[in-house]
Amino acid sequence: MNLFARKTLEELNEEARAQGDGTLKRHLGPVNLILLGIGAIIGAGLFVRTAAAAAGHAGPSVTLSFIVAAVGCALAGMCYAEFSAMTPVSGSAYTYSYATMGELFAWIIGWDLVLEYALGAATVAIAWSQYLNKLIESFIGPAYMIPYQFCHSPFESVMVDGQKISGIVNLPAVFILLILTLILVRGIKESAVFNAIVVSVKVLIVILFIALGWQFINPANHVPFIPEVTTVQDSITGQEHPFGGIWGILGGAGVVFFAFIGFDAVSTVAQETKKPERDMPIGILGSLIVCTVLYILFSWVLTGIAPYEDFRDPTKGKEASVAYAIQTYMTGYGWLGKFITVAILFGFSSVILVMLLGQSRVFYSMARDGLVPKVFSELHPVFHTPAKSNWIFFVFVSIFAAFIPDSVVGDMTSIGTLFAFALVSIGIIIMRKSDPDAPRPFRTPLVPLVPILAVLVCGSMIAGLGLGNWLRLGVWLAIGMVIYFAYGVKNSRVQLSRR
Ligand code: ALA
Repeated sequence: MNLFARKTLEELNEEARAQGDGTLKRHLGPVNLILLGIGAIIGAGLFVRTAAAAAGHAGPSVTLSFIVAAVGCALAGMCYAEFSAMTPVSGSAYTYSYATMGELFAWIIGWDLVLEYALGAATVAIAWSQYLNKLIESFIGPAYMIPYQFCHSPFESVMVDGQKISGIVNLPAVFILLILTLILVRGIKESAVFNAIVVSVKVLIVILFIALGWQFINPANHVPFIPEVTTVQDSITGQEHPFGGIWGILGGAGVVFFAFIGFDAVSTVAQETKKPERDMPIGILGSLIVCTVLYILFSWVLTGIAPYEDFRDPTKGKEASVAYAIQTYMTGYGWLGKFITVAILFGFSSVILVMLLGQSRVFYSMARDGLVPKVFSELHPVFHTPAKSNWIFFVFVSIFAAFIPDSVVGDMTSIGTLFAFALVSIGIIIMRKSDPDAPRPFRTPLVPLVPILAVLVCGSMIAGLGLGNWLRLGVWLAIGMVIYFAYGVKNSRVQLSRR
C-alpha cells in the first residue's frame, strides 16, 4: 500500500476525455471570472455572520476582521490557482491534490471539503430560515411567524414573558434543502443569465444598504473601535472566549471568513480561461477586492447603525440582523428592509445550490476513484444526475441544519475550509520541489513566501476560532482517517491498479 500514490497525468487526461472535460473551451475572460467569484461568495457570511462576529468577538473592529480574512484568501487563492491551472481536468482541490500530493492528502482534502460544502449548505439554510421568518413578519404579520420551537435547534432558547422556550427542530431550513435537492436531482443548466441577475441583485442590496444606511450611523456605536479585552460566554456551549483586542479580531476573522468561501470557484475554471497566467490573479484578486471593499463598508455601516450588543439578543437582532437593523434604526426605510429580505432569500438559495452541487461533484470523483462507495457516482437513468448522492447528502445536511445552531456549523465550515487552504498552500511548496519542470500556466508569485504567509494567516484564524472548534475539526478528521483505512485504501482504483 502506498499512501502517497499519485494519479498520473495520463490518467487525468483519460478521465477528462471520458467525462468530456477534455474539450473545455477557453472562453472566459477576467470580467467573467470576477462576476463568477462575486456570485459565489456574497451570502450568509455577510448577512448573518457579520453581526455574529461583532457580537461575539470583535465589536466594530469586525471591519478589521474582514481585512485579515481577505488577506488569507488572497494568499491561499494564488496557490489554488497554480494547482488548478496545472491539472488538465476541471475540478476541485481534491482532484489537484490526487495528481500532485498523492492519495492520503487527496483523501484528507476531499473529506475536509465536506465541511466546506455540506456544512456550508447547512449554515446558509439556517440563515435562510431566519430571513424567511422575517419575511413572514414584515409581509403577513408577527402572528403568522413560524413558532420558535420549529425554526430553531434544541440547543437554542429564548425568554418570552419570563418563560424559557427552547427550539426543537429547524423545519424551514430542511424545507429549502428539500426544494433545492429536488432541483439538483432533476438537473440544472447553469444559466449565465440567471447568475448575472442574482449577482446584480446581491451587489445592489449591499450598495443600497451602505449608501442609505450611512446617514443613520451613530458615531458612538463605533467607540471604542477595538473593544477592551474581556471574555464572553458562548450561549450554546457555555465556553468563555476572548472578546475585543487582537484575539477578538482574529476570532472574528475566522467567523467572517465564511463570507469569502466560494471564491475558490474562480480557480476551478482555470481550464476554461483564455489566458490563465494573466486572468486567474485578476479574477481571484479582483473578486476578492470588490467583495472586501463592499464587506468593509457594509460592516462599518451595520455596526454604526446598531450597537453590537443588539446582535447578542435573540429578541432583538441576533437573527436576520440586517433586516432588524434597518427596521429598528433606519426610520422611513421599511421598504428597504422588505426588499433586502426578499433578495436575501433568493441570494441564499443560489449559494446553497452551488454548495450542494459542489459536494456531489467532489464525492462523485471520490467514488469513481474508489475512495467512497460507488453509490455516490451512480447516475439517475433519466436525469443523468448523481441523484442517490444528492438524496444521501440531503439527509446528512438536513440533520445539521435541523438540529445544530448556525454558529456551530458555520464555524466548522470556516475551520474546515481554512484547513484545506493551508494544506493546498503547503502542497505548492512540495510540488515545486517534486515536479519542478511540470508546465505551470499560472505560477504563484514569491514561492515559498506566499504559501508560508497563507499558512500563517489561515493558521491564525484557526487559532482564533478557539478550542471547541479545534476539537470538532480533530474529531472530523479522525473519523475520516478511520473510513479511509477501513474502506478507501482497500478499494482505491489507483492502489488496485498499482498492485
Ligand atoms: N460565502 C458564502 C456565504 O457567505 C458561502 O454564504
